Amino acid sequence: MTVNSSTAPFLPSERFSVAPMVDVTDSVFRRMARVMSQHCMLYTEMIAAEALVHEKYYLIDFKDEELPCCLQLGSADPKKLAVATKVGVEHGYSAINLNAGCPSDKVQSGNFGAILMKTPELIAQCYQAMAEAAGDVPVSVKTRIGVDELDSEEFTFKLMGTIYEAGCRHIIIHARKAWLNGLSPKENRTIPPLDYERVYKIKAAFPELKVTINGGITTMEQCQEQLTRVDGVMLGRAIIDNPYLLATVDQELFAAKAPVLTRKEVLGAMVELGAQLQSEGKALHFLCRHLLGLFNGCANSRLYRRYLSEHMTQKDVRPDILLKAHQAMVQGTLEV
Ligand SMILES: Cc1cc2nc3c(=O)[nH]c(=O)nc-3n(C[C@H](O)[C@H](O)[C@H](O)COP(=O)(O)O)c2cc1C
Repeated sequence: MTVNSSTAPFLPSERFSVAPMVDVTDSVFRRMARVMSQHCMLYTEMIAAEALVHEKYYLIDFKDEELPCCLQLGSADPKKLAVATKVGVEHGYSAINLNAGCPSDKVQSGNFGAILMKTPELIAQCYQAMAEAAGDVPVSVKTRIGVDELDSEEFTFKLMGTIYEAGCRHIIIHARKAWLNGLSPKENRTIPPLDYERVYKIKAAFPELKVTINGGITTMEQCQEQLTRVDGVMLGRAIIDNPYLLATVDQELFAAKAPVLTRKEVLGAMVELGAQLQSEGKALHFLCRHLLGLFNGCANSRLYRRYLSEHMTQKDVRPDILLKAHQAMVQGTLEV
């Protein structure tokens, strides 16, 4: 196999990234996230390469304010991945990622995602096709430590080694294996145990490989600790549950000097973003659904959440619904 090492660097923003999540990390989510963190890397939902081959470009539209942003692609076909990568690069994405770790039925029936781990050589071919199409734009692979019975340390080293040999210098590792038979995608995110040590061993064995660790990380303290062992941290569900975590990322992990926005200030910015989205013809609930957890951890946050979820899909709803939901929380009553 020829080594085609990508010359493009691991972008500084990869130090902290928000995970690709289908039905979550859409453009509206990313605009919301960007209000709180300017420095982190935001991933798209997984986009099937096939869709871009068929020119469904509306799927990857984004606003400049979302950058830096990484387009995640799904496929097991190097040619289609090369076409889709080129489209992503031409659209202006900061980086491109191959999904080789997602166990959903949809991706399994397409023979990509986590099932790709059963054929590391194919991941290598996919990576090489993408790297060639991407030019100077970085290409990474997101994977797990193993799949089904292929879960030994020896297998993890073979998997990572094969991808590394293909020239890949950034791997995102969800630190658990995938069980393709018998576990739902949701169960696959909790039942196979996390094994961070396995990821640290990979980093130690391949010092030139930039390693992002993913899975079960929920606090800034944990991020700081992980960053003493690996190059990047990627968080998924913790951001859905508590989007306000993003407000401290720039100061804690990127040494930004600007003061941390309060939740109230974030809420004000979201009212403005809501008005902007409405002026673009988008329904407000596409934003509000991402803000249900904004006050998690605060007294009476369930009142904010309940008010918002009960009102956000109503006809003629206006951005000040967010302020009213907050008022419900502060006053301790839904009667506002
Ligand atoms: C709703 C949801 C959708 C997801 N969709 C994708 C996806 O499109 N591509 C992918 O590689 N992983 C996907 N994942 C997995 C996450 O990227 C991440 O690897 C996983 O949630 C573990 O990280 P966490 O413990 O920080 O949530 C998804 C996870 C969730 C919760």
